[in-house]
This record gives sequence, C-alpha cells and structure tokens, in this order.
Amino acid sequence: MLEAKKEVHEDESMTRRKILKAACCAGAVAAVSLTALKGKADAASETYPQVKVGNIKNLTAGKTLKFDYPLAGRKNVLVNMGCSVEGGEGPDKSIVAYSMFCTHLGCGVELDKESGMLVCECHQSVYDPKQSGKVVEGPAPSHLPMISLEIDKNGDIYAVGAAGLIYGLRNNLLDGEEVR
Ligand code: FES
Repeated sequence: MLEAKKEVHEDESMTRRKILKAACCAGAVAAVSLTALKGKADAASETYPQVKVGNIKNLTAGKTLKFDYPLAGRKNVLVNMGCSVEGGEGPDKSIVAYSMFCTHLGCGVELDKESGMLVCECHQSVYDPKQSGKVVEGPAPSHLPMISLEIDKNGDIYAVGAAGLIYGLRNNLLDGEEVR
C-alpha cells in the first residue's frame, strides 16, 4: 500500500522522456467524459483545499511529482506528458495528475514511462493519463480520480479538486470515512 509522505519525489530520464513524448503524441485523444469530470471537480471546489504541489519550471516532459491530496496519505502522481492531452494544464496543456489508488482494490498505480500509461502493480489494470485516467485494460471498474490543477502566473502548480471518489472512501475530504 502507499505510504503518506510529505516530500515531493522527482524522477526523470532523457531517454524515457523522448519515449513518453512519442507515445503521448502518437495516441489519439478520445472524446470521453472530460467535461463531466471537470464539472464534478468544479462542483466540489468550494470545499477542496488549494495546495501547492510544485512549479512548472521543475517539471520537464516525462517528469513526475508525487503529492498527498486532498488529505495526508491520499497519494497522487502529477506528470508532464510532453504534449497536449485531455484535461492538461500548463503552457502546453500537458500536465495532469491522478490518484495513485487503483479503483479495483486500491493497490498502488505508477506511471510506466515507456508506455506512458498508469499501471497497477497488483492485477495490471492500465489507465490512460492522456484520456482523463480512462481504464484501457484490466479489472478496474472505473477511471482514476483526476486531480484538478491550477497554475498561477509564477508557474506554481496547485491542486484544487478531485473528480471521482478515491478508492475505499465515502468522502474524499473526510478522514475516517473508509469503507474497506
Ligand atoms: S488492485 Fe489494481 S488491478 Fe487490482
């Protein structure tokens, strides 16, 4: 299971960045329900905290950041996909963030930099970060919750909401509301 950590972990590789960018830009961006996802996040934005998670100057293509949101222990991964993607933020509309808790049984999801997909370590569900976290393979019943981002004029990136219920919870914003 995932550990609660405050610090941001960074990871980059020039070769992998190129692979990721190629995978990203070659893939078609399907018209799934991003509008609906955004709508849910916006509806909750009055209660979700605004938390700074990084800055775009430190987030070159292929690089990831991990951060807890909206509460401690609710780990997420932010990634610069290297080209415009569905729901992407930043100058290239390439920055997205997702919960790292698989919607199947809550195992950890990590970015596979060669395929550009988010992959679960337990039963290999695969989610597409270019398509709002859509499930493309495996037993996961629903998309990964997408973390809504805002970027200010200084390039600071803030988490401001979440579209979708994080695995095992009744309410993303309340501690002690787990239903495991
Ligand atoms: S917990 Fe992720 S696929 Fe089963």
